[in-house]
Amino acid sequence: MNDMYLVEKRHSTRDFKHYPLTDEDKRYLDGLWESPPDLIKTSGVEFKFIEDGFNLAPKLEGLAGYFGIMIHAPHYYAVYADAHDLSYKLAGYIGEWFILKAIKRDIGFCWIEVKEPESVKVNLGHHSPKEIVALIAIGYPKREFKQSTIYASSRPGNLSTLTELGYPNIDLQADPGPARAHKSIMEMTHFESFDDVPSLNKIEQYGLNRPIFYMRYAPSYKNLQPWHFLIRSGNIYMIMHQPDFVPESIKCLDAGIGMLYFEVGLNSSGFSGHWQFDNLSLPEALPPNYKIVGKYHY
Ligand SMILES: Cc1cc2nc3c(=O)[nH]c(=O)nc-3n(C[C@H](O)[C@H](O)[C@H](O)COP(=O)(O)O)c2cc1C
Repeated sequence: MNDMYLVEKRHSTRDFKHYPLTDEDKRYLDGLWESPPDLIKTSGVEFKFIEDGFNLAPKLEGLAGYFGIMIHAPHYYAVYADAHDLSYKLAGYIGEWFILKAIKRDIGFCWIEVKEPESVKVNLGHHSPKEIVALIAIGYPKREFKQSTIYASSRPGNLSTLTELGYPNIDLQADPGPARAHKSIMEMTHFESFDDVPSLNKIEQYGLNRPIFYMRYAPSYKNLQPWHFLIRSGNIYMIMHQPDFVPESIKCLDAGIGMLYFEVGLNSSGFSGHWQFDNLSLPEALPPNYKIVGKYHY
């Protein structure tokens, strides 16, 4: 099973079966941490497994989840990072690396916003000097949506639908699950200037249609899909829309998640390279609330 297939499978699970993971699946998840991305060594990031999620969840009502509505799951990871942007970004990158590996086992996941970090730590009984930046809910999904969901959620007039790009393996007979809006790949891509809105043909000529297409599956806070790609002089810059209402650490988590997805897409399209996560700048000013968050060297 290649990584792109896993990306197509991915969606957030909010409704979990009321029993824990099997010991075999827990061992499988533990085993993934034996060969994490090299970046983990310098990231300052820690993932702490929480065994008894159903007991914990009621205590976190009002403290975690959109509008303080906690997602109840049999287990969680508490995601800790050092209190700076690079560590937050790497928490997103490594957390999503883990989730993409883990969905091979049909285990469901959902990132959860932590609204009151100190109170959440107290309830967890953790005394870490690090900052808790998110929770990740873990368990078996109650309902599994088939890939026709992706059709249901394509916006009318969106040129980058699956049919146009010819992606196979779609079961059109399946019941559609909950719709989620996707940005088109042209909305996310710019050549030379951030104002540019390219044709699909141009994106294809550069071989970037596949990696950018798969960005549509990446999870993001409130499904904002804040990522943009500026292709210029042999580099790809990731620029993000960062509205003021999004907390600072979450902006960086979304950045790291997007960087992991794009890298998986690039690798599967034959590009190899690496991300530069910090010390970034562009000669020109970007519109308000847009920020450069990464540069891909290939
Ligand atoms: C950093 C982050 C925080 C999130 N927090 C929550 C949350 O608190 N509650 C929730 O229901 N979903 C949360 N999500 C899930 C997103 O809403 C979801 O990824 C997005 O709507 C896209 O749907 P999908 O993951 O099924 O593709 C979060 C996602 C991210 C990346």
